Amino acid sequence: MKKFVHGARFTPKSYSDDVEAKLQHYRREGYRLPQRHLLRTPEQMAGIRESAKINTALLDYLSENIREGMSTAEIDHMVYCFTTDHDAIPAPFLYEGFPKSVCTSINDVVCHGIPSTKEFLRSGDIVNVDVSTIYKGYFADASRMFLIGEVSPEMRRLVQVTKECRDIGVKAAQPWTRLGDVGAAIQEHAERNGYSVVRDLCGHGCGVKFHEEPDVEHFGRRGTGMLIVPGMTFTIEPMINMGTYEVFIDEDDGWTVFTADGQPSAQWESQILITEDGNEILTE
Ligand code: MF3
Ligand code: CO
Repeated sequence: MKKFVHGARFTPKSYSDDVEAKLQHYRREGYRLPQRHLLRTPEQMAGIRESAKINTALLDYLSENIREGMSTAEIDHMVYCFTTDHDAIPAPFLYEGFPKSVCTSINDVVCHGIPSTKEFLRSGDIVNVDVSTIYKGYFADASRMFLIGEVSPEMRRLVQVTKECRDIGVKAAQPWTRLGDVGAAIQEHAERNGYSVVRDLCGHGCGVKFHEEPDVEHFGRRGTGMLIVPGMTFTIEPMINMGTYEVFIDEDDGWTVFTADGQPSAQWESQILITEDGNEILTE
């Protein structure tokens, strides 16, 4: 039942009086705050959680079925079938012209790899599978790395440290701290381990749209950037390179992002909801 107050549609607030008071305080202090529409209503939170459940079930399904010798087009087929079987839509499909339902990024591909019938998973490969779901208009987004056959200890370590970077970023994303705190925590862990953080691609607000504000950089300085506020939903998805952080986009397909030096790259992605006392992991 919709409620009408003074003729306007009443939207339940996701924030308490305490949040309201803090927002006013930080606004007066001149902090960069998220716009109101980025603070999810309870109804939106419920919708995003439903979408996230399908997205996570899909990644669980892929982790049981991905194997050496398979083409990346077969992964794409599994994603399309599983998602549509759950009355959902693969968000990447035709998004800004992206031709497939999922991104599959092997070894020196940083992200946005396009599945192909001519590309096969081989022993020693590390592959990122990035899936995004639209369910009843709400968006979920996550990615995981998979190790194919016998992977070198060096590449295993890259995958492990990148997962730690994602988890450290999620832990740092606390209400009333700053986005720069998240980036700094991730960057410190990556660089302490001898790796570099990709600069040209970032996490993003996600839930009501696929990509919305804010940009969530995986590097930066503490005490800078937008204030993190209860009700925000965004992704944390560090791309960590073994060599230089420099990347380039494939000129022919316009999508595939490669490391500039041909060294491997890894990525793990979660989407979170900022709550009044911490955060809730929506996807992983
Ligand atoms: N899931 C990716 C992200 O994290 C987006 C890839 S969809 C594409 O933002 F269409 F842009 F490739
Ligand atoms: Co994303």
